[in-house]
Amino acid sequence: MKNIAAPDLLTKETRQEIDAWLKKFPENQRRSAVIPALKLAQEQNKGWLDEDLMNAVADYLHLPRIAVYEVASFYTLFHLKPVGKNRLYVCTNISCLLRNSDEISDHIKNKLKIGFGETTADGQFSLFEVECLGACGGAPAMQVGTTYHENLTPEKIDNLLASLAEPTAGGTHVK
Ligand code: FES
Repeated sequence: MKNIAAPDLLTKETRQEIDAWLKKFPENQRRSAVIPALKLAQEQNKGWLDEDLMNAVADYLHLPRIAVYEVASFYTLFHLKPVGKNRLYVCTNISCLLRNSDEISDHIKNKLKIGFGETTADGQFSLFEVECLGACGGAPAMQVGTTYHENLTPEKIDNLLASLAEPTAGGTHVK
């Protein structure tokens, strides 16, 4: 642990946005800003949080570091190790399961040659299994970034992955 002060790690934009969130809560409820602050810190760091960055968030919010670790390690929204450029969150909960989410998961795994919790060698994609996304009416559903994709089929997955993949020499080929 390097114990770097918050201003050295959080970008000016991140700090400004955290400040905007803090204004929404009473001064004695700074803890309420932990989730948005962690989201902002994660976004500035290519989608994941290391220990120094979590410490920076805690210090900036004047909270015990454990209060920030607890949140960051609880939600699937946060990643504590490097992830791919595109994060695929496949719902496997009951409505999606009944509408063939297993087929969707297997199709993505076969196509990208990775399992849940893994990242393609070229860093383009990471795949995650998540609980209900609240999109049961469009099951099977998947979240990519902030976008929901519903009523998925293998063909829709093929088109989506092809549109997300960046052509790289010797990189992931989404066929
Ligand atoms: S069960 Fe998949 S979105 Fe609700």
